[in-house]
Amino acid sequence: MHETRSFAPPPAFAAAANLNAAKLEQLHAHAACDHEGFWADQARTQLSWRQRFEQTLDSSLAPRYRWFTGGLLNASYNCLDRHLAARGDKTAIVFEADDGAITRYSYAALHAEVCRLANALRGLGIGKSDRVVLYLPMGAQAVIAMQACARIGAIHSAVFGGFSAESLKDRIEDAGARLVITADAAPRGGKRVDLKTAVDKALAGGCASVERVLVYRRMDGCAMQPQRDLWWQDRVPTQCAECEPEWVESNHPLFLLYTSGSTGKPKGVQHSTAGYLLGATVTMQWVFDLKQSDVFWCTADIGWITGHSYVAYGPLSNGVTQLIFEGIPTYPDGERFWRMIAAHQVSVFYTAPTAIRALMRLGDHLPARHDLSSLRLLGTVGEPINPEAWMWYHRVIGGGRCPIVDTWWQTETGSMMIAPVPGAVATKPGSCTRPLPGICVDIVDEDGKPVTQIGRGGFLVITRPWPSMLSTIWGNDERYAETYFGRFGDQVYVAGDGAQRDEDGYIWILGRIDDVLNVSGHRLGTMEVESALAAHPRVAEAAVVGRPHDIKGEAILAFVVVRGERADAIAEGLPRELCVWVAEQLGAIARPDEVRLVDGLPKTRSGKIMRRLLRSIGAGETVTQDTSTLENPAILEQLRG
Ligand code: PRX
Repeated sequence: MHETRSFAPPPAFAAAANLNAAKLEQLHAHAACDHEGFWADQARTQLSWRQRFEQTLDSSLAPRYRWFTGGLLNASYNCLDRHLAARGDKTAIVFEADDGAITRYSYAALHAEVCRLANALRGLGIGKSDRVVLYLPMGAQAVIAMQACARIGAIHSAVFGGFSAESLKDRIEDAGARLVITADAAPRGGKRVDLKTAVDKALAGGCASVERVLVYRRMDGCAMQPQRDLWWQDRVPTQCAECEPEWVESNHPLFLLYTSGSTGKPKGVQHSTAGYLLGATVTMQWVFDLKQSDVFWCTADIGWITGHSYVAYGPLSNGVTQLIFEGIPTYPDGERFWRMIAAHQVSVFYTAPTAIRALMRLGDHLPARHDLSSLRLLGTVGEPINPEAWMWYHRVIGGGRCPIVDTWWQTETGSMMIAPVPGAVATKPGSCTRPLPGICVDIVDEDGKPVTQIGRGGFLVITRPWPSMLSTIWGNDERYAETYFGRFGDQVYVAGDGAQRDEDGYIWILGRIDDVLNVSGHRLGTMEVESALAAHPRVAEAAVVGRPHDIKGEAILAFVVVRGERADAIAEGLPRELCVWVAEQLGAIARPDEVRLVDGLPKTRSGKIMRRLLRSIGAGETVTQDTSTLENPAILEQLRG
């Protein structure tokens, strides 16, 4: 908020942009005077329909909103078939493997691959509304699997490959999946990630709904269970390369994606077909200023929402060429991203602040060795970007000429909500600027009243339904209504973030206001980590908070009360053991940076853990909270570590 620098759209960029200031104003004006009419127009012009929708927005079951009811379409048809005549030979995907090997898929080839897999899935008895869990490495096969599910109306639920067998099991069971698609293993940063072993472990512990496991052979194979497991390479290549799409109603679930909330149990965010696809499609044109000549690269893994909207669906729906990368930014060295941008002539690059900060640390000389002149636009997502990293990205990667789009959105919103339209809106380092057309955002106080005072924080809310909003939480309409619409009524979606506005009306995200952490742009519930800790036999009680971290944004700090003597536990190395334990329970991304053993947790008189106090301690701030209620003030010293 103390940031005063502002970067107007470069004139040449604005002149060639899909939306200049006047066109953007027209869209805003249309949406403001006719919200539904605006979105109906977008849906008619942007998507290909089998049958036109009857009603734009059905609010009769609010807060469950249904968009474009009565329409029939297929997401895979929109991403593939509709491009075949005009650009079947155009490259859809350039895949670069961990070891640098490159595979290209034209739209026609991708269509054929998707159809083959879709036919194979139908051959296994998978059809409309069946749930298919994807536990796959980042790569073209992951996109093919998502598209194949969409083609036959099956509901995919991708699970990030970094999640543990235990987390995978929970997600498979909640979704009631009939099929799991995985790979034997995957190379990542020169190391081997065993995926199938985790699937075997998950299935051994339950998952009664799973009938089959389809295994893509990416490396040197794995153990197979004869009745259950099938090789992709045995089943898929022999299938027919045409597959009639399943035409589904607009609100048919396209996918589930589990994400963390403020309870111990992740929730299956359910997205619709039409509204979701519309959001992913138009935001690419508005925010990425997408052109047919672009080479687009979004570095997000397929296991996150960004990998859904801006890898698996948005780029394909728009018919552009995209780069997909299997590896990590620092392997074999810190020049990997820059080398790839130059080699593939990437023009629009979208990544996370964590990656930018990590690469910035390595020094300017690494990007300087590569010709980055193909870049014309840069983007960030997932967490607040600090002005220093923003300026580095702008100056060193963008050569001072590329606008930066800082895009705010969530798993639940499906597509970008607040972001600059680069040919029309001046940017400020650290602000995601203004809401997109048709997206009604406000900042409200405890009573739901708009905060009008400049620089005062409040709850970030979305005050009208939008097409790419989640439809519900899988199997739990009540939790959906309660979590997102429980605070200010059926009309007002509560994002869970705090935000404030500056004198230009720009929005600045202040971070989560619930018990959700953001570690390297990955969302984690403090309660999830706490329940993983509590499952350890030596743990009596645990409290988890985030503390500021230079690269990750936020790191996990856990305070643990042990059973037995604290001194013994420290001597036995329990803190380290607990870090490893959490990684095994939840996945490596949830591994605490530090576990502090303490004799007691600070609690209020009513027994609630004083998290704000723990956060202050974690951040190394002087404690300003009232500590008079602490039963044992001496624990303050232990808490400080
Ligand atoms: O706190 C916000 C943060 O990430 C949360 C959503 O996480 P997830 O559902 O995993 O989706 C991440 C990718 C869309 C938000 O509630 N967040 C996301 N984008 C930004 C952000 N915080 C600040 N600036 C952003 N641009």
